Amino acid sequence: MLGLSTDIPNDNDWIRCTLGGASVFVQRFGASIKGFENVCRHRFYPIRTAAKGSGLVRCAFHHWIYNQEGEAVGIPQCKKLFGVSPKQLGARLREVEIATCGVLIFGRFPLQNLTRSEPDTKADSPLSNHNKSLEEYLGEAWPILQTFCRPGIRPAFASSVVKANWRTSL
Ligand code: FES
Repeated sequence: MLGLSTDIPNDNDWIRCTLGGASVFVQRFGASIKGFENVCRHRFYPIRTAAKGSGLVRCAFHHWIYNQEGEAVGIPQCKKLFGVSPKQLGARLREVEIATCGVLIFGRFPLQNLTRSEPDTKADSPLSNHNKSLEEYLGEAWPILQTFCRPGIRPAFASSVVKANWRTSL
């Protein structure tokens, strides 16, 4: 889970988060929510350098601008430096697949970003869940989670210390 849709209520609001140890960011574009790896395709500078904010997807290093598909659409002096237009250059951010359940935002890397060899998606493989949507993956838990996390319910966080060893605390 990457965050809450209530964290990004307005157009162009974004949050930075971690997915599988990698820095990513999630941004609202109108009614849709998109996620990208937090790495500029030019010189690999992080695009988002704060925990949250609002604004265009614009790298602060050399000011490349990306659209909501992750395509570099604004590159200063592109023709002079690279001899082609930004569209011809075809640079784009690595996308994170986003799905929501109520206000919860979930993300995962596309399968092609996870493995270089042919992915093993057989039923007993750890990657087999990549064929499933979030709703299919959650199964019977989907409507329960959706009800608990529907918009309008103020999110609350709770934590407690359990004096226990490594066993699961029930
Ligand atoms: S590193 Fe992002 S624009 Fe150069």
